[in-house]
Amino acid sequence: MTWLKPVDIDPHAQSSYAAFFARLESRLNDAATDRPTLVRETLAQAMYGRDYGALLADAPLAALNLDSRNVTFEAEYYMATDDARFQQVKPLLHLWKSIDLTPLGQNPVFGIPLRRILAGHVFRTVGANFKCWQNVEFSVGYNMEVGNDVVIHRNVLLDDIGGIELHDGASVSDYVNVYSHTHSVLDGPDVTLRRTVIGRGARLTYHSTVLAGSVVSDDAMLATHALLRGDVAPQGIAMGIPARVTRVKIRPPGVVEGFTGAGIDSATHPHDAGRKANPQFPHATPNQTRLPDGDAALAPRLPLSDPLPEPVGGEG
Ligand SMILES: CC(C)(COP(=O)(O)OP(=O)(O)OC[C@H]1O[C@@H](n2cnc3c(N)ncnc32)[C@H](O)[C@@H]1OP(=O)(O)O)[C@@H](O)C(=O)NCCC(=O)NCCS
Repeated sequence: MTWLKPVDIDPHAQSSYAAFFARLESRLNDAATDRPTLVRETLAQAMYGRDYGALLADAPLAALNLDSRNVTFEAEYYMATDDARFQQVKPLLHLWKSIDLTPLGQNPVFGIPLRRILAGHVFRTVGANFKCWQNVEFSVGYNMEVGNDVVIHRNVLLDDIGGIELHDGASVSDYVNVYSHTHSVLDGPDVTLRRTVIGRGARLTYHSTVLAGSVVSDDAMLATHALLRGDVAPQGIAMGIPARVTRVKIRPPGVVEGFTGAGIDSATHPHDAGRKANPQFPHATPNQTRLPDGDAALAPRLPLSDPLPEPVGGEG
């Protein structure tokens, strides 16, 4: 059952887009293709209507930035990133993000099929009918496992450095954040990677956040603005900060609409024990925190209107 309806555009535009996608797909399927070169040529045409070489001669700053070899991604600064794998997908993530900044990327009839093609060459796996709207960000992309009929809406952050599974029919709403890494409270550089699992037909609704290692089971739902650290049982509706299941969908027991086979829940997908991302911290540092001793133990807060305290120590 869907509430969507088909929308048509001018047939000439549609056939130009289709020809572009066919060419792109065949270049990406050709192992001899140099991906950074393909991407800079594609962007030079899409953004400036020119060949890359001509653009470089006339407007070097505009041109140089189209080549992923001249650009860095945040993931490249992290030890947890597998550099060889990232370099494979980096040009395609650069194309994905750059096109999102253009009218073409904001146009669903162009942007969604383009992202479907790119996902096939970036993600670890992706099923049929992947639908991704604009302004979605991945950490590394290569650790995404995506089933059939998965939808990702606008302005979503999918931090897949430790792995994210989005199973068949999962839906991720606008402004959702899904994480798969966490930092020790005592030592920020002590990072643990944990796979995060979103079950079949599960819905993460707008502005919700899922912390690393959580399991959202089949047909479960995370309410808007909820913050999940842990699991949501099948058909559970989890709300609040931290999210707790306060409602359960009424469905025949054991039935998830339209899905067959083994279910996704914290029994079939037990919590990821985690992998250490930084060799300087080979062992898990327990997060040792305690409740404050009372008001006196809390640092006094200056009202914002107070003048800054005088500096202590010598001049200069
Ligand atoms: C979780 C949700 C589905 C509940 O909707 P609902 O079944 O119509 O529930 P109600 O509005 O009747 O609220 C039921 C209870 O949950 C509480 N509640 C609802 N949404 C909540 C939220 N996001 N966070 C905390 N509590 C929430 C209500 O305050 C109410 O509490 P009460 O029983 O103490 O009075 C809905 O609030 C929500 O978050 N929707 C997200 C939007 C969406 O569906 N997106 C789909 C993809 S775009």
